[in-house]
Parts: sequence; C-alpha cells; structure tokens
Amino acid sequence: MLARLFNAPEDCDFIGTSTLSSSETIMLGILAHKWTWREQRKKEGKDYSNPNIVMGADVHVVWEKFAKYFDVELRMAPIQKDHYTLSVNKVKGHIDENTIAVGVVLGTTFTGQIDQIQEINDLLMDVKKEKGWDIPIHEDGASSAFIIPFLDPDFKWDFRLEHVRSINASGHKYGLVYPGVGWLVFKDKKCLSDDLVFEVNYLGGFIPTFNLNFSKGNSMIIVQYYNLLR
Ligand SMILES: Cc1ncc(COP(=O)(O)O)c(C=O)c1O
Repeated sequence: MLARLFNAPEDCDFIGTSTLSSSETIMLGILAHKWTWREQRKKEGKDYSNPNIVMGADVHVVWEKFAKYFDVELRMAPIQKDHYTLSVNKVKGHIDENTIAVGVVLGTTFTGQIDQIQEINDLLMDVKKEKGWDIPIHEDGASSAFIIPFLDPDFKWDFRLEHVRSINASGHKYGLVYPGVGWLVFKDKKCLSDDLVFEVNYLGGFIPTFNLNFSKGNSMIIVQYYNLLR
C-alpha cells in the first residue's frame, strides 16, 4: 500500500519493513545504502574505508546519530540566514565517490519546508552519467509522507524520481495512532543486501527481520492499517 502511495513504478520489486519510529527507520535505510556502496566498492577493488553521507543542517538529529553510531563521515551543508533547506548547489560541493547517500527532507522538523528534491535528483542523474557514481537519495518523509500524497499528488518527491531509492514515514505523525510505528520502503530489493536480513526461527516459523529492535507491539500497525483501508 505504501509503495503504491509513494508511486513506486509498476515494474518495481519493492520491499520494506515496519519499525518503532522514523529514527530507527532512517538508520536502517542509510545502513542498507552503506552496505550496497561497500559491496560495490569491494567488487570494483576500490577502497571502502571512508564512507560519507551528505545532508543539510535542516535534518532531524537522527541523521547525526546515524553518522556517529555507524561510523560514517557526516557532511552537513550549513543552512543560510534566509534559506533553511538543502539546495542542489550545496549537494554539488559535498558529494564524491565515497558518498553512500544524500539525505533529503520532506517537511523539516523546524519549518516544515522541503529540500530541493527534484533538482538534487537531476544533479545525481548527471553525476551518474558523467562519473559513474550511482548515489541514492534517502527521503526523510517522517512528517509529510502521509500528507503530501493527498494534498499535492502531482508534486514529484517520491519513487517517480530515479535516485529516490528509500523513503521513511512516521506512522504516528499521520495521526490516530500513538507512537511508535515507522515505515521504511525501498524502491527495489536490490537496495537491501540479504546480508542485513536475519532469518529467524522462533516459535515455529521463519521470519525475516531487518530491525534494530526485536519485540514490539502490533497494535499501532493494526490501527494504522485500519485507517489506511478506510
Ligand atoms: C523530519 C523528521 N525526521 C525524523 C524524525 C524522527 O522521527 P521519530 O520521532 O518517529 O523517531 C522527526 C520527528 O521526530 C522528524 O520531524
């Protein structure tokens, strides 16, 4: 349902997971991109010791946590006095072959504004053509991924953009559920290395798990499902 809401093309082999929050979701999303980047670098016989992540200073603190907890260089573009979002020019000056992903925000925590998503996607398409670096975008839709698709369905922020490979949304910011439920959707299974998914056999059935937490309540998922169906 969410992959369709986020306009995944018909032929996409999407995959996702539910979490306790967007914080967990963002960490998992970028971790997957770190894995993909590293596997590709290994395949090419290139150095993979210095991954970096590029974002604007308008991001939620979880992005900084990710860089610290998962040992990735934080490249945070400063915001300006009269411009509070990440612009394409800032991204241009920060990316290189070691960039595991660019983080963009759909509705920042501070002003509710949106980063220059389409322009950043176009830049990354050009960079791929010119230099061969295939840099994914992880879209932090914590606050707005359940709002923009209804308010402005023609606004292209989602899987319609080639480089948007993963999106997170906070279920609890959609309303009518308590914290916590977060959602992570990858545009394609290829973005999520099998190496990160644990097949566990507890209580008689195999369950694939890609989460930082293990036990959690299902009530928020069920309530959200009910709301989405209605
Ligand atoms: C843009 C943005 N990203 C991430 C988060 C973190 O979400 P959560 O509180 O679900 O961990 C928030 C809000 O708290 C947010 O506003």
